[in-house]
Amino acid sequence: MSEWLRCIACAREYDALEVRTTCECGGLLAVARSALSVGPALFDQRRASRHPIDQSGVWRFREGVLSADEATIVTHPEGSTRLYERDGVLFKHEGENPTGSFKDRGMTVAMTQAVRVGARAVACASTGNTSASLAAYAAQAGLRAIVFVPAGKIAAGKLAQTLAYGALCLAVRGDFDAAMRLVLDASKEFGIYLVNSINPFRIEGQKTIVWELLQDLDWRAPDWIVVPAGNLGNTSAFGKALVEARDAGWIDRLPRLAAIQARGANPFYRSFTESFASRHRVAAETVASAIRIGDPVSFDRAVAAIRATNGVVEDVSDEEIMTAKRDIDRMGIGCEPASAATLAGLRKLRAAGVINASEQVVCVLTGHILKDPDAVSGNVVEIDPSLDSLASVLGSI
Ligand code: F0G
Repeated sequence: MSEWLRCIACAREYDALEVRTTCECGGLLAVARSALSVGPALFDQRRASRHPIDQSGVWRFREGVLSADEATIVTHPEGSTRLYERDGVLFKHEGENPTGSFKDRGMTVAMTQAVRVGARAVACASTGNTSASLAAYAAQAGLRAIVFVPAGKIAAGKLAQTLAYGALCLAVRGDFDAAMRLVLDASKEFGIYLVNSINPFRIEGQKTIVWELLQDLDWRAPDWIVVPAGNLGNTSAFGKALVEARDAGWIDRLPRLAAIQARGANPFYRSFTESFASRHRVAAETVASAIRIGDPVSFDRAVAAIRATNGVVEDVSDEEIMTAKRDIDRMGIGCEPASAATLAGLRKLRAAGVINASEQVVCVLTGHILKDPDAVSGNVVEIDPSLDSLASVLGSI
Protein backbone atom coordinates (compact mmCIF):
# COMPACT_ATOMS: atom_id res chain seq x y z
CA MET A 1 0.00 0.00 0.00
CA SER A 2 1.40 3.42 -0.87
CA GLU A 3 -0.85 5.14 1.69
CA TRP A 4 -2.18 4.31 5.10
CA LEU A 5 -4.07 6.07 7.88
CA ARG A 6 -2.40 7.35 11.02
CA CYS A 7 -4.01 8.78 14.15
CA ILE A 8 -2.74 12.30 14.84
CA ALA A 9 -3.17 11.74 18.60
CA CYS A 10 -1.74 8.26 19.30
CA ALA A 11 -0.01 7.40 15.97
CA ARG A 12 -1.90 4.11 15.61
CA GLU A 13 -2.03 3.04 11.96
CA TYR A 14 -4.79 1.53 9.82
CA ASP A 15 -5.05 0.22 6.29
CA ALA A 16 -6.13 2.91 3.79
CA LEU A 17 -9.15 0.81 2.76
CA GLU A 18 -10.47 0.45 6.30
CA VAL A 19 -13.62 2.55 6.64
CA ARG A 20 -13.50 4.56 9.86
CA THR A 21 -14.07 8.19 10.79
CA THR A 22 -11.75 8.33 13.80
CA CYS A 23 -9.14 6.24 15.58
CA GLU A 24 -10.07 3.76 18.35
CA CYS A 25 -8.77 6.41 20.76
CA GLY A 26 -11.13 9.02 19.29
CA GLY A 27 -8.29 10.94 17.60
CA LEU A 28 -8.50 12.33 14.07
CA LEU A 29 -6.96 10.33 11.23
CA ALA A 30 -4.56 11.59 8.58
CA VAL A 31 -3.33 9.95 5.39
CA ALA A 32 0.35 9.00 5.64
CA ARG A 33 2.64 7.93 2.82
CA SER A 34 6.33 7.41 2.18
CA ALA A 35 8.51 10.31 1.02
CA LEU A 36 7.51 11.86 -2.32
CA SER A 37 10.04 11.53 -5.11
CA VAL A 38 8.18 13.55 -7.77
CA GLY A 39 8.02 17.31 -7.94
CA PRO A 40 7.54 20.58 -9.82
CA ALA A 41 9.04 19.46 -13.16
CA LEU A 42 6.47 16.67 -13.54
CA PHE A 43 3.59 18.83 -12.26
CA ASP A 44 4.48 21.61 -14.70
CA GLN A 45 4.63 19.14 -17.56
CA ARG A 46 1.21 17.74 -16.61
CA ARG A 47 -0.30 21.22 -16.47
CA ALA A 48 0.28 21.50 -20.21
CA SER A 49 -1.02 17.99 -20.93
CA ARG A 50 -4.41 17.19 -22.50
CA HIS A 51 -4.86 13.99 -20.54
CA PRO A 52 -8.09 14.38 -18.46
CA ILE A 53 -6.58 13.49 -15.11
CA ASP A 54 -3.61 15.79 -15.68
CA GLN A 55 -6.08 18.57 -16.39
CA SER A 56 -7.53 18.20 -12.91
CA GLY A 57 -5.77 20.58 -10.53
CA VAL A 58 -6.14 17.84 -7.92
CA TRP A 59 -5.01 14.71 -9.77
CA ARG A 60 -2.13 16.56 -11.43
CA PHE A 61 -0.52 16.10 -8.01
CA ARG A 62 -1.77 12.52 -7.62
CA GLU A 63 1.37 10.99 -6.06
CA GLY A 64 0.75 13.28 -3.08
CA VAL A 65 -3.04 12.87 -3.08
CA LEU A 66 -4.14 9.25 -3.53
CA SER A 67 -2.83 6.36 -5.55
CA ALA A 68 -6.04 5.12 -7.13
CA ASP A 69 -6.48 3.28 -10.42
CA GLU A 70 -7.16 5.86 -13.08
CA ALA A 71 -10.38 4.09 -14.01
CA THR A 72 -11.84 4.55 -10.50
CA ILE A 73 -11.12 8.28 -10.25
CA VAL A 74 -14.27 10.40 -10.07
CA THR A 75 -13.18 13.73 -11.52
CA HIS A 76 -15.13 16.52 -13.19
CA PRO A 77 -12.17 17.66 -13.58
CA GLU A 78 -11.73 20.31 -10.89
CA GLY A 79 -9.12 22.84 -9.75
CA SER A 80 -6.96 24.85 -12.16
CA THR A 81 -8.52 27.99 -10.71
CA ARG A 82 -7.22 31.49 -11.42
CA LEU A 83 -4.88 33.59 -9.35
CA TYR A 84 -5.80 37.28 -9.60
CA GLU A 85 -3.73 40.24 -8.55
CA ARG A 86 -5.58 43.35 -7.42
CA ASP A 87 -4.04 46.25 -5.52
CA GLY A 88 -0.97 44.20 -4.66
CA VAL A 89 -2.93 41.31 -3.14
CA LEU A 90 -3.23 37.88 -4.78
CA PHE A 91 -6.58 36.10 -4.77
CA LYS A 92 -6.76 32.37 -5.56
CA HIS A 93 -10.39 31.95 -6.61
CA GLU A 94 -11.59 28.53 -5.55
CA GLY A 95 -15.13 29.62 -6.40
CA GLU A 96 -14.11 28.77 -9.97
CA ASN A 97 -14.36 25.05 -9.27
CA PRO A 98 -17.14 23.08 -11.05
CA THR A 99 -19.75 23.51 -8.29
CA GLY A 100 -18.52 26.95 -7.30
CA SER A 101 -16.44 26.20 -4.20
CA PHE A 102 -13.16 24.67 -3.06
CA LYS A 103 -15.07 21.64 -1.78
CA ASP A 104 -14.76 19.96 -5.19
CA ARG A 105 -11.04 19.45 -4.60
CA GLY A 106 -11.68 17.38 -1.50
CA MET A 107 -14.80 15.77 -2.89
CA THR A 108 -13.16 14.25 -5.97
CA VAL A 109 -10.79 12.38 -3.65
CA ALA A 110 -13.38 11.41 -1.02
CA MET A 111 -15.76 10.19 -3.73
CA THR A 112 -12.99 8.19 -5.41
CA GLN A 113 -12.24 6.63 -2.03
CA ALA A 114 -15.98 5.91 -1.53
CA VAL A 115 -15.94 3.99 -4.82
CA ARG A 116 -12.75 2.15 -3.82
CA VAL A 117 -14.26 0.93 -0.53
CA GLY A 118 -17.52 -0.08 -2.24
CA ALA A 119 -19.79 2.50 -0.58
CA ARG A 120 -23.37 2.68 -1.85
CA ALA A 121 -24.43 5.88 -0.12
CA VAL A 122 -22.48 8.97 0.89
CA ALA A 123 -23.43 11.66 3.39
CA CYS A 124 -22.32 14.93 4.94
CA ALA A 125 -23.50 17.70 7.22
CA SER A 126 -23.14 21.02 5.49
CA THR A 127 -23.61 24.76 5.50
CA GLY A 128 -24.29 24.31 1.78
CA ASN A 129 -21.12 24.07 -0.25
CA THR A 130 -20.10 20.57 0.78
CA SER A 131 -23.64 19.40 0.10
CA ALA A 132 -23.65 20.90 -3.41
CA SER A 133 -20.29 19.31 -4.15
CA LEU A 134 -21.26 15.95 -2.68
CA ALA A 135 -24.48 15.93 -4.70
CA ALA A 136 -22.63 16.63 -7.96
CA TYR A 137 -19.89 14.05 -7.44
CA ALA A 138 -22.28 11.38 -6.13
CA ALA A 139 -24.39 11.91 -9.26
CA GLN A 140 -21.30 11.32 -11.37
CA ALA A 141 -20.27 8.23 -9.39
CA GLY A 142 -23.82 6.83 -9.32
CA LEU A 143 -23.98 6.77 -5.51
CA ARG A 144 -26.91 7.73 -3.31
CA ALA A 145 -26.38 11.19 -1.78
CA ILE A 146 -27.79 12.21 1.61
CA VAL A 147 -27.08 15.66 3.02
CA PHE A 148 -27.89 17.14 6.42
CA VAL A 149 -28.22 20.91 6.46
CA PRO A 150 -29.28 23.30 9.24
CA ALA A 151 -32.94 24.08 8.49
CA GLY A 152 -33.44 27.50 6.95
CA LYS A 153 -29.77 28.43 7.33
CA ILE A 154 -28.12 27.76 3.98
CA ALA A 155 -27.76 30.17 1.08
CA ALA A 156 -30.16 29.92 -1.86
CA GLY A 157 -27.62 29.04 -4.56
CA LYS A 158 -26.24 26.14 -2.54
CA LEU A 159 -29.64 24.67 -1.77
CA ALA A 160 -30.65 24.95 -5.43
CA GLN A 161 -27.56 23.05 -6.55
CA THR A 162 -27.94 20.33 -3.94
CA LEU A 163 -31.52 19.65 -5.04
CA ALA A 164 -30.75 19.96 -8.75
CA TYR A 165 -27.98 17.37 -8.63
CA GLY A 166 -30.45 14.98 -7.00
CA ALA A 167 -29.38 14.57 -3.37
CA LEU A 168 -31.78 13.69 -0.58
CA CYS A 169 -31.68 16.97 1.35
CA LEU A 170 -32.56 16.72 5.05
CA ALA A 171 -33.16 20.03 6.85
CA VAL A 172 -32.22 19.38 10.46
CA ARG A 173 -34.01 21.49 13.06
CA GLY A 174 -30.91 22.87 14.71
CA ASP A 175 -27.61 24.44 13.75
CA PHE A 176 -24.71 23.03 11.68
CA ASP A 177 -23.10 21.54 14.77
CA ALA A 178 -26.29 19.57 15.53
CA ALA A 179 -26.43 18.35 11.92
CA MET A 180 -22.78 17.31 12.18
CA ARG A 181 -23.41 15.26 15.33
CA LEU A 182 -26.39 13.59 13.68
CA VAL A 183 -24.51 12.60 10.53
CA LEU A 184 -21.62 11.20 12.59
CA ASP A 185 -24.09 8.97 14.45
CA ALA A 186 -25.94 8.13 11.23
CA SER A 187 -22.81 7.05 9.40
CA LYS A 188 -22.03 4.54 12.17
CA GLU A 189 -25.62 3.35 12.52
CA PHE A 190 -26.47 2.97 8.83
CA GLY A 191 -23.05 2.32 7.32
CA ILE A 192 -23.23 5.42 5.12
CA TYR A 193 -19.84 6.69 3.92
CA LEU A 194 -19.12 10.07 5.53
CA VAL A 195 -17.43 12.69 3.35
CA ASN A 196 -17.19 15.66 5.70
CA SER A 197 -13.67 17.00 6.14
CA ILE A 198 -13.25 14.74 9.18
CA ASN A 199 -12.64 12.23 6.35
CA PRO A 200 -8.86 12.35 5.81
CA PHE A 201 -9.21 11.85 2.04
CA ARG A 202 -11.03 15.19 1.78
CA ILE A 203 -7.96 16.83 3.31
CA GLU A 204 -5.69 15.17 0.75
CA GLY A 205 -7.65 16.80 -2.09
CA GLN A 206 -7.81 20.22 -0.45
CA LYS A 207 -4.03 20.29 -0.08
CA THR A 208 -3.88 20.93 -3.81
CA ILE A 209 -5.28 24.46 -3.35
CA VAL A 210 -1.92 25.30 -1.83
CA TRP A 211 0.14 23.17 -4.19
CA GLU A 212 -1.54 24.76 -7.19
CA LEU A 213 -1.02 28.27 -5.88
CA LEU A 214 2.66 27.48 -5.32
CA GLN A 215 2.75 26.27 -8.91
CA ASP A 216 1.01 29.50 -10.04
CA LEU A 217 3.86 31.38 -8.31
CA ASP A 218 6.48 29.24 -10.05
CA TRP A 219 7.23 27.39 -6.81
CA ARG A 220 8.25 30.50 -4.89
CA ALA A 221 6.52 30.55 -1.53
CA PRO A 222 4.50 33.68 -0.67
CA ASP A 223 4.93 35.18 2.80
CA TRP A 224 1.34 34.57 3.88
CA ILE A 225 -1.67 32.48 2.89
CA VAL A 226 -4.97 33.77 4.30
CA VAL A 227 -7.95 31.40 4.57
CA PRO A 228 -11.42 31.57 6.10
CA ALA A 229 -11.87 29.10 8.94
CA GLY A 230 -15.08 27.26 9.83
CA ASN A 231 -14.97 23.51 10.32
CA LEU A 232 -11.17 23.84 9.95
CA GLY A 233 -10.70 21.30 7.15
CA ASN A 234 -8.95 23.81 4.90
CA THR A 235 -6.70 25.19 7.63
CA SER A 236 -5.64 21.59 8.36
CA ALA A 237 -5.13 20.77 4.69
CA PHE A 238 -3.07 23.90 4.06
CA GLY A 239 -0.71 23.12 6.94
CA LYS A 240 -0.24 19.54 5.76
CA ALA A 241 0.30 20.67 2.16
CA LEU A 242 2.93 23.21 3.14
CA VAL A 243 4.90 20.88 5.36
CA GLU A 244 4.82 18.16 2.70
CA ALA A 245 5.92 20.61 -0.03
CA ARG A 246 8.81 21.81 2.10
CA ASP A 247 9.84 18.27 3.08
CA ALA A 248 9.78 17.18 -0.57
CA GLY A 249 11.93 20.18 -1.55
CA TRP A 250 9.26 21.81 -3.76
CA ILE A 251 9.65 25.07 -1.80
CA ASP A 252 12.51 26.20 0.37
CA ARG A 253 10.57 27.92 3.13
CA LEU A 254 7.13 27.81 4.72
CA PRO A 255 4.64 30.64 4.21
CA ARG A 256 2.72 31.59 7.34
CA LEU A 257 -0.97 30.72 7.57
CA ALA A 258 -3.57 33.22 8.73
CA ALA A 259 -6.92 31.56 9.53
CA ILE A 260 -9.79 34.03 9.78
CA GLN A 261 -13.03 33.42 11.66
CA ALA A 262 -16.23 35.41 11.92
CA ARG A 263 -16.52 37.06 15.34
CA GLY A 264 -19.79 35.27 16.10
CA ALA A 265 -18.33 31.88 15.20
CA ASN A 266 -14.81 32.11 16.60
CA PRO A 267 -14.00 29.10 18.80
CA PHE A 268 -10.65 28.57 17.08
CA TYR A 269 -9.67 32.21 17.52
CA ARG A 270 -10.56 32.06 21.21
CA SER A 271 -8.32 29.02 21.67
CA PHE A 272 -5.51 30.67 19.71
CA THR A 273 -5.52 33.67 22.07
CA GLU A 274 -4.81 31.18 24.90
CA SER A 275 -2.04 29.43 22.94
CA PHE A 276 -4.53 26.58 22.37
CA ALA A 277 -4.57 25.74 26.10
CA SER A 278 -8.25 24.79 25.85
CA ARG A 279 -10.76 23.95 23.14
CA HIS A 280 -13.71 26.34 22.87
CA ARG A 281 -17.22 25.71 21.61
CA VAL A 282 -19.70 28.52 20.88
CA ALA A 283 -23.29 28.93 19.68
CA ALA A 284 -22.44 30.34 16.25
CA GLU A 285 -24.07 33.34 14.58
CA THR A 286 -22.73 35.28 11.59
CA VAL A 287 -23.88 36.67 8.26
CA ALA A 288 -21.29 34.38 6.61
CA SER A 289 -23.49 31.27 6.72
CA ALA A 290 -20.75 29.01 5.29
CA ILE A 291 -18.67 29.43 8.44
CA ARG A 292 -21.50 29.57 10.99
CA ILE A 293 -19.88 26.74 12.95
CA GLY A 294 -19.35 26.64 16.72
CA ASP A 295 -17.64 23.29 17.27
CA PRO A 296 -15.27 22.56 14.37
CA VAL A 297 -14.42 18.89 13.86
CA SER A 298 -10.88 19.32 12.51
CA PHE A 299 -9.82 21.38 15.52
CA ASP A 300 -6.77 19.31 16.52
CA ARG A 301 -5.43 19.04 12.98
CA ALA A 302 -5.81 22.81 12.53
CA VAL A 303 -3.88 23.53 15.73
CA ALA A 304 -1.01 21.50 14.26
CA ALA A 305 -1.24 23.52 11.01
CA ILE A 306 -1.04 26.88 12.80
CA ARG A 307 1.86 25.70 14.94
CA ALA A 308 3.81 24.19 12.01
CA THR A 309 3.56 27.36 9.94
CA ASN A 310 4.06 29.88 12.76
CA GLY A 311 0.56 30.93 11.78
CA VAL A 312 -2.02 33.21 13.35
CA VAL A 313 -5.78 33.15 13.88
CA GLU A 314 -7.83 36.34 13.68
CA ASP A 315 -11.50 37.17 13.94
CA VAL A 316 -13.49 39.82 12.07
CA SER A 317 -16.94 41.33 12.55
CA ASP A 318 -19.83 40.78 10.14
CA GLU A 319 -19.53 44.42 9.16
CA GLU A 320 -15.85 43.99 8.26
CA ILE A 321 -16.74 40.86 6.27
CA MET A 322 -19.47 42.63 4.31
CA THR A 323 -17.29 45.67 3.58
CA ALA A 324 -14.55 43.38 2.26
CA LYS A 325 -17.07 41.40 0.22
CA ARG A 326 -18.37 44.57 -1.39
CA ASP A 327 -14.80 45.57 -2.24
CA ILE A 328 -13.98 42.16 -3.77
CA ASP A 329 -17.26 42.28 -5.71
CA ARG A 330 -16.46 45.79 -6.97
CA MET A 331 -13.05 44.59 -8.19
CA GLY A 332 -15.09 42.54 -10.65
CA ILE A 333 -14.02 39.31 -8.97
CA GLY A 334 -16.79 38.61 -6.46
CA CYS A 335 -17.15 35.95 -3.79
CA GLU A 336 -19.55 34.76 -1.12
CA PRO A 337 -19.38 36.38 2.35
CA ALA A 338 -17.24 33.71 4.07
CA SER A 339 -14.53 34.13 1.43
CA ALA A 340 -14.36 37.87 2.11
CA ALA A 341 -13.28 37.14 5.69
CA THR A 342 -9.81 36.76 4.13
CA LEU A 343 -9.52 40.36 2.96
CA ALA A 344 -11.16 41.62 6.16
CA GLY A 345 -8.64 39.60 8.17
CA LEU A 346 -5.72 40.78 6.06
CA ARG A 347 -6.71 44.40 6.66
CA LYS A 348 -6.86 43.82 10.38
CA LEU A 349 -3.55 41.97 10.53
CA ARG A 350 -1.86 44.69 8.50
CA ALA A 351 -3.28 47.40 10.76
CA ALA A 352 -1.95 45.49 13.77
CA GLY A 353 1.50 45.20 12.19
CA VAL A 354 1.36 41.38 12.07
CA ILE A 355 1.53 41.39 8.27
CA ASN A 356 3.59 44.18 6.78
CA ALA A 357 2.98 46.01 3.54
CA SER A 358 5.99 44.58 1.72
CA GLU A 359 4.98 40.95 2.30
CA GLN A 360 3.41 38.87 -0.46
CA VAL A 361 -0.06 37.66 0.52
CA VAL A 362 -2.43 35.19 -1.12
CA CYS A 363 -6.07 35.29 -0.01
CA VAL A 364 -8.01 32.13 -0.83
CA LEU A 365 -11.54 32.93 -2.00
CA THR A 366 -13.47 29.80 -1.16
CA GLY A 367 -16.88 30.29 -2.80
CA HIS A 368 -18.49 31.91 -5.85
CA ILE A 369 -20.46 35.16 -5.67
CA LEU A 370 -23.67 33.47 -6.94
CA LYS A 371 -23.72 31.02 -4.04
CA ASP A 372 -25.34 33.67 -1.88
CA PRO A 373 -27.27 36.13 -4.08
CA ASP A 374 -29.03 37.64 -1.06
CA ALA A 375 -25.69 38.96 0.27
CA VAL A 376 -25.13 41.28 -2.68
CA SER A 377 -25.38 45.06 -2.26
CA GLY A 378 -26.69 47.40 -4.95
CA ASN A 379 -30.10 48.57 -6.19
CA VAL A 380 -31.95 48.00 -9.40
CA VAL A 381 -33.36 51.28 -10.79
CA GLU A 382 -36.70 50.92 -12.56
CA ILE A 383 -37.42 53.32 -15.44
CA ASP A 384 -40.07 53.97 -18.08
CA PRO A 385 -39.11 52.97 -21.65
CA SER A 386 -38.33 56.58 -22.59
CA LEU A 387 -35.22 58.73 -23.03
CA ASP A 388 -36.65 61.30 -20.63
CA SER A 389 -36.96 58.77 -17.90
CA LEU A 390 -33.46 57.52 -18.63
CA ALA A 391 -32.07 61.07 -18.64
CA SER A 392 -33.52 61.77 -15.21
CA VAL A 393 -31.67 58.78 -13.80
CA LEU A 394 -28.36 59.36 -15.59
CA GLY A 395 -28.11 63.06 -14.79
CA SER A 396 -24.97 64.37 -16.41
CA ILE A 397 -22.50 61.75 -17.60
N1 F0G B 1 -15.60 29.17 2.88
C1 F0G B 1 -16.66 28.57 2.35
C2 F0G B 1 -17.29 29.20 1.15
C3 F0G B 1 -17.17 27.38 2.92
O1 F0G B 1 -18.22 26.80 2.38
C4 F0G B 1 -16.55 26.86 4.07
C5 F0G B 1 -17.03 25.64 4.70
C6 F0G B 1 -15.43 27.52 4.58
C7 F0G B 1 -14.99 28.67 3.97
C8 F0G B 1 -14.71 27.04 5.77
O2 F0G B 1 -13.87 25.96 5.46
O3 F0G B 1 -14.79 24.32 7.05
O4 F0G B 1 -12.64 23.93 5.88
O5 F0G B 1 -12.82 25.64 7.67
N2 F0G B 1 -18.11 25.08 4.37
C9 F0G B 1 -18.56 23.79 4.89
C10 F0G B 1 -19.77 23.31 4.12
C11 F0G B 1 -18.69 23.71 6.35
O6 F0G B 1 -20.54 22.51 4.65
O7 F0G B 1 -19.93 23.69 2.97
P1 F0G B 1 -13.49 24.88 6.58
